[in-house]
Parts: sequence; C-alpha cells; structure tokens
Amino acid sequence: MYSNSSPTETQLLASYERLIEISHQLNSTLDLGTLLRHIISAATELTKTEEASILLLDPTTGELRFESTTNSNTLEMEDIIVPKEGSIAGWVVTHGEPRVIQDVSHEPSFFSRVDDTLEFKTRNLLGVPMRAQNRVIGVLEAVNKKDGARFEEHDIQVLITLANQAAIAIENARLFQQSDFISEMVHELRTPLAALKASTTLLLRPDLPSEKREDIIYTMQGETERLIRLTSEFLDLARLESGRAKLDIASFDLLRLIKESVDVVLSQASDRGVTLEILCEPFTISGDRGKIKQVLLNLLTNAIKYNRQGGTITLDARVSPVHEEPFVELAVNDTGYGISKENQKNMFQKFYRVANTAGFTTGTGLGLAIAKHIIEAHGGHIWLESQEDVGSTFYLTLPLSQQS
Ligand SMILES: Nc1ncnc2c1ncn2[C@@H]1O[C@H](COP(=O)(O)OP(=O)(O)O)[C@@H](O)[C@H]1O
Ligand SMILES: [Mg+2]
Repeated sequence: MYSNSSPTETQLLASYERLIEISHQLNSTLDLGTLLRHIISAATELTKTEEASILLLDPTTGELRFESTTNSNTLEMEDIIVPKEGSIAGWVVTHGEPRVIQDVSHEPSFFSRVDDTLEFKTRNLLGVPMRAQNRVIGVLEAVNKKDGARFEEHDIQVLITLANQAAIAIENARLFQQSDFISEMVHELRTPLAALKASTTLLLRPDLPSEKREDIIYTMQGETERLIRLTSEFLDLARLESGRAKLDIASFDLLRLIKESVDVVLSQASDRGVTLEILCEPFTISGDRGKIKQVLLNLLTNAIKYNRQGGTITLDARVSPVHEEPFVELAVNDTGYGISKENQKNMFQKFYRVANTAGFTTGTGLGLAIAKHIIEAHGGHIWLESQEDVGSTFYLTLPLSQQS
C-alpha cells in the first residue's frame, strides 16, 4: 500500500546486512551519547532521509523529549517537551505503533513547535516506537526522504528493526551507567563515613585527653565537608550524564566571569604563594554562566592544588582556530608537576586522580568529568597539554555570542 517502486530483493538484502553490522556496533558501546549518535546516523542511512531524531520518555517524569538528533540544534531541541497528545511522536509512544506522514502540511496533529524553534521544514516523517522488554521507551523518527521520495513499507520495517535493537542497547547502557555509578559512589562515600565513625568512637572514650578532642573535631569537620562536596558533585554528574541538566543560555562577558572566579580562589592561591595572571581580552560568550563558572573554578583550584609552592597560573583567551563557527579558546596554564602521557588519557574520567598527588590534596576526581560534560553540552571541547615537572595547560572552547 505504501509502495509504488518497491526495492529489489538485492537492495532489501543489503539493508538487512547493514542492519546486522549496525547492531554489532550498537552492542559494542555502553556510552549513551555515542550510542544515540550511532543510532540516528544509522536511521538516516537506512531510510535515505535527511534527518533523524530520538525522543525518549523520561523514566521519572514520563515527559517525552528529544535526546539526540542529526540536526545541529540539539541543544535547543532538548528543551522542548513534546506533548503526548497533539504530536506524531506522542501518538507513536501512546499507541506503540509506527506512523507515517507523507505530507505534514495536511496533518493537523503535527507538532510544529520544533520546526518553528529551529527554522526547519519537515516535509514528511516516519516515527516508530522503541521497545525494550515490551515497554515503549521512546520514538525513533526519520525526517524528509531524500530526492522527494515517499516512505515505503520497506523503510518502516527497517526502521522498526533498528529501533528495537537500539532500545535494547539504550537500556543496557542505562543499566550499566547506573550500576557503575552507584557502586563507585558508595565506594567513595565509605572512606569519609568510616573516618567519621572512628572519630565518634574516639570522642566517646572517657579517657580521651581533652587536647585530642579538638583535633578529632577538626577531622570530623573536614570529612563532613568532603561528604557534602562528594554528594553535590555526584548529583551534578548524574544529572549531566543522564541528560537531565538543562543549560540556561545567555550572553555574558567572559573576562568578568574570569575575574569573579579568580577572586573566589585568591586566598587559596596566596596560601600556596601562587600568583594568578589574566591576559585575556574581553569576549562575549553565549552559554550557561553558572555552569561555566563551575568549570573555571575547578580548573583554577586544580591549577593551585597541583602547582608548586610559589608557582604561577596564567589565563589567556583567543578566537578558536579549530571551530568553523565563532568560538573562543581559553587556556589555563600552571607551573605545576605536570601530568604523564599515561595519566593524560584518563584525565576526564570520573573518579580519576593521579595517585601521587591524590595523597596530599583533597578532591573527588569528579571536577574534570563534570567540566567535560558542561563544555561539550555547549558544543565546545576541553583538552590538555602537559609536561612532567614543567606544568599543564587546560584548554576549553565556548561559543561566542552572535549578538554584537
Ligand atoms: N593542573 C593540574 N596539574 C596536575 N594534575 C592535575 C591538574 N588538574 C587535574 N590534575 C589531576 O587530575 C585529577 C582529576 O582532577 P579533578 O577531576 O578536578 O578532580 P580533583 O581535583 O577533585 O581531584 C586530579 O586529582 C589530579 O591528579
Ligand atoms: Mg578538581
């Protein structure tokens, strides 16, 4: 009923062969972001369409949202809650069936807010449910057949097969993320909790000399602060990893933010005799000021903590030479111990701390993992260059504001 030029047997076979290859690829990654990108690029390839998107039901709120799309404006799309009534994707999750719209201009239930927000024109679309363990977890959409073609029965079948494989891979990645995260978190909480328990036991001893009492209380205070920092950083990272943290984008002056952040760490720096130097010119950024401040504070405290006594920190910024769009590149340089090539590879992984510095500094090993999520959510990059015994430079890029 959909076909007027049905594909040949060979073409069908080729797309199923391709599906098997893709399925191997999907099962080989447990990183949710990478997985979602693989799925949407497979969807456009297999259905010969211009764009594809994945919408997932939030497991806690039940809201339907864009999680990933081939469209470059993913960030704006992620803010849109797609209504379950009055949208094609909503219809697909509620009914658990595929839906083809050959011409959206004749379709009253098409949800046009996405097009309006992105100045994008949807001509036709195919939405199929993503089912894992008999539960619909979201929708896979393929948008705009290339060369003015229509969606065929074959497109529907191929996309359904892909969506079901993808749904299982997403569930696996989510489970892995959770189990991994919870066990690591519990592990990290045990050390300060054990220290607190030992301290209370000591404090209760009647024979404890009174001058010891104060030391123990200071230890308890330190461990409590560590617990507070750990739990709040855990929460930040969990929100960022699950895609629940939304960016609050506005234009702001980067230099002002840098000065503000430097003020926060100034006393910490002078405790170690570290001097800070700002060489940046003013740049207007478009981003989430609060979250970017969190990134800067972490880079600055790292540059202080892992610097040598009396060292320096230099901040510099320039227009990024690597982005096609206008981006700024900020560099935070220190004269610290540096990081070996081996350790550089793991630098942005959660809980990773270099063994020889972890001993004498406080930290959670979450700061750089959080920073990477925040910068990449802005479309930027974060990386480092470092030489042992010389120092390290952390670089990050952020979009410049287009308003002049
Ligand atoms: N500027 C730096 N110089 C040397 N080592 C660094 C620097 N920044 C980070 N590191 C190393 O990377 C690890 C992870 O940093 P981060 O994620 O901010 O965690 P934390 O600061 O809580 O330990 C640190 O424990 C440290 O070993
Ligand atoms: Mg840190």
